[in-house]
Parts: sequence; structure tokens; C-alpha cells
Amino acid sequence: MAPVTLRGYLLCVFAAFGGILFGYDSGYISGVLAMNAFKQQFGNPSTAADAYNGRLYQTWEKSLIVSILSAGTFFGALFAGSLADWIGRRATIISGCGVFSVGIVLQVASSTVSLLVAGRLIAGIGVGFVSAVIILYMSEVAPKSVRGAIVSGYQFCITIGLLIAAVVDNSTMNRMGSDSYRIPIAIQFAWALILGIGLFFLPESPRWFVKRGRLEDAAKSLSILRSQPADSGFIKDELAELEANFQLESKNMQSGWLSCFVGGWSSPNSNLRRVMLGMALQMMQQWTGVNFVFYYGTTFFKTVGLKNAFVISMITTAVNVGSTPLSFWTVEKFGRRMLLIYGAVGMLICEFVIAIVGTVDEGSKAASMCLIVFTCFYIFFFASTWGPAAWVVIGEIFPLPIRAKGVALSTASNWLWNFVIGFTTPYMIDEQYGNLKTKVFFVWGATCTACVVFAYFLVPETKGLSLEQVDNMLKETSPRRSSKWLPHSTFAGHGETSSLESTDKAGVRARYEENISQPESKV
Ligand code: BGC
Repeated sequence: MAPVTLRGYLLCVFAAFGGILFGYDSGYISGVLAMNAFKQQFGNPSTAADAYNGRLYQTWEKSLIVSILSAGTFFGALFAGSLADWIGRRATIISGCGVFSVGIVLQVASSTVSLLVAGRLIAGIGVGFVSAVIILYMSEVAPKSVRGAIVSGYQFCITIGLLIAAVVDNSTMNRMGSDSYRIPIAIQFAWALILGIGLFFLPESPRWFVKRGRLEDAAKSLSILRSQPADSGFIKDELAELEANFQLESKNMQSGWLSCFVGGWSSPNSNLRRVMLGMALQMMQQWTGVNFVFYYGTTFFKTVGLKNAFVISMITTAVNVGSTPLSFWTVEKFGRRMLLIYGAVGMLICEFVIAIVGTVDEGSKAASMCLIVFTCFYIFFFASTWGPAAWVVIGEIFPLPIRAKGVALSTASNWLWNFVIGFTTPYMIDEQYGNLKTKVFFVWGATCTACVVFAYFLVPETKGLSLEQVDNMLKETSPRRSSKWLPHSTFAGHGETSSLESTDKAGVRARYEENISQPESKV
């Protein structure tokens, strides 16, 4: 394996910038909806307490404005699964930036709910392209020893996007003209431009070139990414491995959508099992309850009597940003599986503490303090574990012929559950419906318990393996024993010892050291 240079690392990590689009786009709307100028422009006559000048949009309009983005991203992600195979990963992300920009133009120009909704739908399709294909691209270009850390950079950018959105909303909310909401919307152009132009100068994924049979282009691309001459031993070895593996895989499978669902349930490395694993993992990431805090935190904190709800929301957003970088190290040191198991344990403890204290001592100062402190701990656990690790794993579990579609289906599942939870949560907490107050954390505690069981029984350890070796690992061992599995041969068909010498040293060593240093923690 070629040594990882700073330049190579930065080239691979640049695409993480797409996370800003994801985070900002999901984050800016809640603040905009609360702006007086927005209510004035988009509202109808209303007598509601939170109307401005007697004007407010209707509840169904609010729901539609918020959730239409997830509908767009859901379809965008699925479509991107095909596009990324036809035109390439890089070109799909660049097109996503283009589609996203059209959506922004419509939103900036809008003065009616219908145009705004159309704009958010189109922008959502663009975000769907970007969010599905960035994970694919980053996982395919990154050297395996730092792949987890590089993909975690994407999650870090999501958190920064959410934070920037909160800051921008906060600084324009008191303007009385349409610029109060048009500025936060228009700023998104910057993210699309930076990402689109930046990717234009980056190489296409070498694995996509291999899939298209363009081996010379694949060598050129690898040589740029690894900062090594195209005819060096490192590049030749890596390319031989990619190619041999692809030949082997494509003998056994096609790359159409149907192939994602073949292989049956009984074989552990079947496409069906992997696709279900990716989709379920992203569903469970949403079931940790994280977006309850980010989408409804401000209103929820108010309903349980906290006065400075906005500040508390800013604090949770900042904890989210501050804790994510920890995962750059932990995801490679402890592995994806451990992070998911212990992260969910940490979250469920916080959630049950909030729920129990809030129930036995409702409305007290102690219960409010407990809510604030344990929400911050909870976000810390999410940001340093499930936030990044769920994305890292979906980039690693699919064989090349169906990788683009598998990642797309998993990402679409994230957006679908994002939508379902976003849409149903108000019914659990609003006074006229469930009015659960802090008891809602019993629900999130229970779903997080399901996350622990899910991660323990079903998520394999993919740390330190090449994307090609993951395939063998899935075939030969169970998720619970997967961290002990060591790669024993390469697809390029060298002898066993030499193959380990040339391609697997770092990964094997990392996995081996972990096995002997923490024998008890492995199942
Ligand atoms: C999740 C988003 C969430 C964000 C918070 C992402 O990994 O998919 O739904 O809003 O993390 O940081």
C-alpha cells in the first residue's frame, strides 16, 4: 500500500465539503419559518399566537415546506445510484450541484408557497445526488488505512453546515425585508459552487474506471490520489487488486437494480443481505432520535419550560461540531462496530436518565438541568459514533458492481426515515396530541436499545480491510466474530505470504494488534 501523503489525504477529504450542503440545507429552514418577514410574505390571515401582523402560513404548508426536501433527496439519491454508474461518481456530484443551484434560484425568487416548495423539491434532488454519491466517491478514493477517518470528515461537514445555518438564521432574522430569509437561502450557492468547482479538478474514482474497463485512466487517477508515479509498484499492485476483484465479482453478478436484491437470505454475503444491512443501518441512525433534538429542539425546550431555548439549541449544535472530530481517531482505532455498540449504549443511558428524572420530578429545576446536560452528553455520543460510523459502513459493505446502487438505497433510507420521524414527532409532543413532554425520551431510549442489539448482532467490522477484502470477510465469518478475521490472500493471485507483504501489511497489523491487545472485548 502506498504511504498516505498529506496531499493524497487532502485530495480524498475535499469531497467531504458536500456535507455542508446536507447540513445547511436541512438546518436553515427552521429559523426561516420563524422569521417575521417570512410569515408576512408567505402567510395567510391568521389569529394564531405566533402569527406576525395577523399573518401566518397554515400547518400543512409548514409541513410541506419542511418535508418536501426529504422527498426530493429520497428520489435524488435513488436516481444518483444509476447516474453514478453511467456518467461517473464525480460527474454525478457536479450535476447534483447544478440541480441544487436551480432549486436555490427558484427559492430565492419565490414569493408564494408553491414556488418555494418546487424550489425545495428540486434542491432536494440535488442534495440527494450529492449525499448518496459523496460517500461512494470518498470510500472509493480513500486509502484503506484512513478511509474511516476520511468518510467521517463528511459527517463533520454536516455538523458544520447545521451550525452555519443556525448562525446565519440568527443574524438575519431581525431584518424586516425579504432579505431576512433570502440571504440564508442564497448563501447555499456558495456551497454548490465550491463543491462543484473543486470536484472538477479532482480525479474520478479509479474503481469506476475499472468498472468501465478504462485501466489506463484508473492508473492515472490512482497515481494522482496516492501521489505516486503511475508505473510505480504501489499503483500497479493496487490496480491489479481492484481489477482482479472486479473480474471475479462481475462474473457472479450484474450491476442493475435487481442485482441488489439477489442472493437470498441464508448466505451472509449475499447482495440482498448487504443492501438490507445498509438500509437498516441508516434507518437505525435516524431512530437514535438525533433529529428530534436538531429539528424540534428549540420548540421542545420551550414547551418543557426552558426560557433560553434558542441558546440551548445553539449549544447542542456546537457540541455536535466539537465532538465529531474525535471519531476521526476512534473509527480507525476501535473500529466501526465497537463505536456503534458503545455509542448506542451511551445514548440510551442519557435518554433514559432524561426521561426518568423528567417524569418523577416534572417541571423542577433539577429536571431542566438534567435535560440540558444529558442532551449534550447524548449529542456527544451520537456525534462521535453513530453520526460518522453509519456513513462509513455503508461505503464499505457493497461489492463494486452494485456499490453505487447499494449506497444510494441506504442513503435514500436515511432520508425516508428522516422524513417519517420529522413528520410524526410533533404528534408525540404537541400539547393537543401526545403531549409526552420529557417522556418522549422513553421512546428514543427504547429505539436506541434496538440500535445496540442491531449493531451487536448484525454489523460486521470493516476496519483496515480493502473494500475487496470485505467481501471475503462477510463470506467467512459472522458479524460478532468479524473483528478477529484477518485477510489471508489477495484477489490479484500472488502467493499468500507475498500478498500480505505487499498489500495488507498495515491493515493486518492494525487488526492483529487490536485482537491481541483487547481479546476480551471481542465476541
Ligand atoms: C444524520 C442527519 C443528522 C446529522 C446531525 C447525520 O449523520 O444523517 O440526519 O441531522 O447527522 O449531525
